[in-house]
Amino acid sequence: MAVNTRTVSAAELDVQREYTAKISALLNQRYTEKPLACVVTYGCQQNVADSEHIKGMLEEMGYGFTDDRQKAKLVIFNTCAVREHAEDRVYGNVGALKKYKLANPDVIIALCGCMMQQKHIAERIRQSFPFVDLVFGTHVVHRLPELLYTAMTRRKRVFELPDIDGVIAEGIPVKRDNDRKAWLPIMYGCNNFCTYCVVPYVRGRERSRQVSDIVEEFKQLVADGYKEITLLGQNVNSYGKNLEPKVTFSELLRILNALEGDFRIRFMTSHPKDCTKELIETMAECDKVATHLHLPFQSGNDRVLAAMNRGYTREKYLSLINYAKELMGDELSITSDIIVGFPGETYEEFLDTLSLVNEVKATGLFTFIYSPRVGTPAAEMDDPVSHEDKAKWLAEILEAQEKISAQQMKLHAGKTFKCFVFGKGKLGDNYLAARTDGNLIIEFEGGERLIGTFQNLKVIEPLTFVMKGEIEKL
Ligand code: 5AD
Ligand code: SF4
Repeated sequence: MAVNTRTVSAAELDVQREYTAKISALLNQRYTEKPLACVVTYGCQQNVADSEHIKGMLEEMGYGFTDDRQKAKLVIFNTCAVREHAEDRVYGNVGALKKYKLANPDVIIALCGCMMQQKHIAERIRQSFPFVDLVFGTHVVHRLPELLYTAMTRRKRVFELPDIDGVIAEGIPVKRDNDRKAWLPIMYGCNNFCTYCVVPYVRGRERSRQVSDIVEEFKQLVADGYKEITLLGQNVNSYGKNLEPKVTFSELLRILNALEGDFRIRFMTSHPKDCTKELIETMAECDKVATHLHLPFQSGNDRVLAAMNRGYTREKYLSLINYAKELMGDELSITSDIIVGFPGETYEEFLDTLSLVNEVKATGLFTFIYSPRVGTPAAEMDDPVSHEDKAKWLAEILEAQEKISAQQMKLHAGKTFKCFVFGKGKLGDNYLAARTDGNLIIEFEGGERLIGTFQNLKVIEPLTFVMKGEIEKL
């Protein structure tokens, strides 16, 4: 049994199934053609995974799907709160639907996700967007059938935003966006409270799914032909801490790696504070676990790291990376997130981040200018550096990383990688795109039937962000 985690009971899920049936009947009554839903997703992979569950529930109700908001009878925005820019886009896009809703009163407009879980935002939606019918938070996604039914049948707006530690709901239907590549959440929430981050406030406390539930879903994915399965959590390294008996993330990886089938396991995000040597050894030893480590360092300066409440130093980070390089060598790919312009950060402190970028030599970086988030400690700190200067700092990082990427690509010329072909390429009409174990992209000429398979690709020409390759002839 999990500690401090409430698992949604079978009886509660039965109630939701009854609502699903009621909505089906209602849709049959109201529409002669299959009504369409449009689910718009912002933010991280956890949100993408949540949207896949939302779509699974909607499909059971009888909805079809469209990307065209103006054709939909139901529009759901699954929002992100991590930076201001993401929030602004939501306001703009919801506002743009006002006319459509007024002309089509039967259309339901719903908002959910991390942004809605903040009280000041839900209040703004209540006041300034009266045409929004339904707003629900991150802890009640499994109750969508009930909430939607209420919004459809009572002439009143529904706001359901309980502020709780969080629940785990198993067995919710899922409609996946891709038929070869899948997201598999293994845990929810975050306990770290990095001082800049809103996630712990909107996603609740860390809670892990049971190993047996994960294994069952994983096996089903493999049986359904999925080849790349990414395990998701805000901090996968603390997986299992609240399970009884305790399980470590490395143990989970070993269990999944031992399952039969031709697949590759990825995972994100790792937190340097909880990343262990054991995890690095597990990655090196497990043949089906990709040698890609997304390990965000955020800053290269120890004072800033402490102010961010990250719980590690630059030295500890480097010792982890060096150990990983020692065990996995050329096979290893590192990616990281970086925040520039944390409140009070000086240019000299920023230069430590730049030097860490040059030292780590990541294959890719996700770089952000600090964005103040309501309710977080950093939002109360003095922040004297202008946005313009922060943008210049960011440009310095990007320039350094571009050089590193180009150098690294050159080192791969002539090498062969086992790659997962994930879609069409961008270099030309008949190019396909494939991903190496270390998350590098190789494009090659080939027929579309190769999409969704593993291929051995030889690099013939490294470019800046992708490499050109060809199928290795044996
Ligand atoms: N401002 C800028 N970037 C942020 N991130 C999280 N919160 C903020 C913020 N307030 C970044 C971190 C994190 C990634 C998912 O988003 O780098 O790792
Ligand atoms: Fe946010 Fe830190 Fe938790 Fe990541 S580990 S979600 S940055 S609080």
